[in-house]
Amino acid sequence: MSKIERLDQHTINSIAAGEVIDRPASVVKELVDNALDAGAETIRVEIRAGGVREIRVRDDGTGMSPADAALSLESHTTSKLRHVEDLDNLTSMGFRGEALASIAAVSRLSLVTREIGSEAGVRLEVEGGQRVFEGPAGAPEGTMISVKDLFYNTPARYKFLKSDMAEAAQVQERLCQLALTRPDVSFLLEKDGRTVLHSPGNGELLSAIFAVFGADIASAMHPVAYEEPPIHIRGFMSKPDYSRNNRARQVFIVNGRVIRSRILQAAVDEACTTYFMKGRHPVLVFHLNVPHAFVDVNVHPQKSEVRFWDDRKVFSAVFHAVKALLGDDRADRVQETVETPADLQRSAPVQQTFDLTKAAPAPSGIIRDDRPQQTEPLPPSASAPSAPVDARRTDEPLTRPEPKDGERKIADLIGSKILGQYLNTYIVLQIGSRLVLIDQHAAHERILYERLLKHPLKAADAGRQPLLLPVEVEVTPAEAAYIDENLSALADMGFEAEPFGPGTYVLRSAPDLKQQVDVQQFFSELIAALSENGEREDRSFHDAFALKACKSAIKASQPMSVSEIEHLLEDLQSLDNPYHCPHGRPITVEFTKTEIEKRFGRIV
Ligand SMILES: Nc1ncnc2c1ncn2[C@@H]1O[C@H](COP(=O)(O)OP(=O)(O)OP(=O)(O)O)[C@@H](O)[C@H]1O
Ligand SMILES: [Mg+2]
Repeated sequence: MSKIERLDQHTINSIAAGEVIDRPASVVKELVDNALDAGAETIRVEIRAGGVREIRVRDDGTGMSPADAALSLESHTTSKLRHVEDLDNLTSMGFRGEALASIAAVSRLSLVTREIGSEAGVRLEVEGGQRVFEGPAGAPEGTMISVKDLFYNTPARYKFLKSDMAEAAQVQERLCQLALTRPDVSFLLEKDGRTVLHSPGNGELLSAIFAVFGADIASAMHPVAYEEPPIHIRGFMSKPDYSRNNRARQVFIVNGRVIRSRILQAAVDEACTTYFMKGRHPVLVFHLNVPHAFVDVNVHPQKSEVRFWDDRKVFSAVFHAVKALLGDDRADRVQETVETPADLQRSAPVQQTFDLTKAAPAPSGIIRDDRPQQTEPLPPSASAPSAPVDARRTDEPLTRPEPKDGERKIADLIGSKILGQYLNTYIVLQIGSRLVLIDQHAAHERILYERLLKHPLKAADAGRQPLLLPVEVEVTPAEAAYIDENLSALADMGFEAEPFGPGTYVLRSAPDLKQQVDVQQFFSELIAALSENGEREDRSFHDAFALKACKSAIKASQPMSVSEIEHLLEDLQSLDNPYHCPHGRPITVEFTKTEIEKRFGRIV
């Protein structure tokens, strides 16, 4: 009796219908899903020209009998589901009996398979859904499916394909996800003859993470094991000492399927808020085990989304799993103001020249934003200082004009008394009788931002700085595709990047930004931002570049010498808008003498 059967009409009608195959990556996913369902231990995927010319998937699973092989290529024929009720207890990746038929309809497909224990195999060939060959074939146990000339007969769909490189990147991304889903299976991916992924299949998730994300990430990962019955979570996650500026490396696997889920993402974000800096995210791979009755996989034609019957329960489980890891170790907390782990390491022990922490919390209203002080009469002459700025230490309160809105300058900085640095993060000044705190991070950001706006960095402007020691940068497949497609634009900007093994590039030069910049971080963040938006070499490319340039150069949590502070004040003074950082946060916060005296009860 054949294992594969045709589904009844009622079941067919109950299954999420829709486009199954839209690009090479979805073909690969379906074929690999089938191999996994067939119990394969090794799956080898080869693609040519982004998978459009050919995708070949070979597995060492159960194989099929000749009768099953013939049926497998027809619509609604499956060995995995008999009745609609079975959907509630699904353990296989497939269930619709639809994938092979859909692929065969839009390509030239050949299938060679030999059932375990059987003498001979069979070969079937189908073109555009029409059987063109069927016959015996010598073959190893297992199945090999080759899909050539995808969409050759459906030009409308062919038109929607991106470049070969981009399609290949998607295939790789998919396969990486699958390798993380099934550490017990060895995955191999060859792109045009080049091996780009090889997971060992030793059953260890960390080994799969190593194969997919590389050594740096693997070594930053911490095991997570958490239970909030009936939900079990296990996996790995990075602590705040390794973070990324996007969530591209957060993988959620629910009952063996990689899924996208806002709920799960929100749970991680929420749990990370006080630990990770704003805009930074952990890398994580979470396997969630949820009773099948708790989750509906039948909501998306590509099965990449699920519906949980109780969102709060899964949210809570993920939230607490993350908290349990982060909360264990308070030392890992990163302050909002710390820009990068590298900054954190660089920062010297806190030198508090001025300790406001001992004061009672400020009543609301005391902290002012950028509004110029009304308390001091200032002569009009100093509104646009022409004399060189001199931030000498002096006790003499200088009088300055009241800057009008729109033409304000921080003229007051001239002659301000530098009291020191608070928490290596805020510069503490006395200006006249006012106590002024300057957020050095925000100030520096603003300075660079305005500079870059006035003199946008283009290749020629920035210049190129050869790197004495080439810098290695690890990227995702999508980012790699972006780099490959924009090599010359990047070179114009000063970045000479060369491929260096799977997922890695070496930089031989970087733009000369005249700032102390962590080139590795700058490049990877720039590429992450650009590739996410799919931007090409155009204005936004330059804007992103300029923004990243200033972001990367920010000094936060860094001790500054008096002359560095003076320099910063000088630069700050020359700005069009010295009051807000590019993100709108205030740069200065002031306390008047009256406010302080009130706090001490000297006046009422
Ligand atoms: N690599 C393989 N090894 C063994 N059997 C396979 C393989 N690929 C497909 N089959 C058989 O062919 C049938 C049809 O495959 P197909 O992918 O079209 O549907 P499905 O996997 O059952 O459901 P879905 O459409 O959700 O993927 C499967 O049910 C399975 O029995
Ligand atoms: Mg299938």
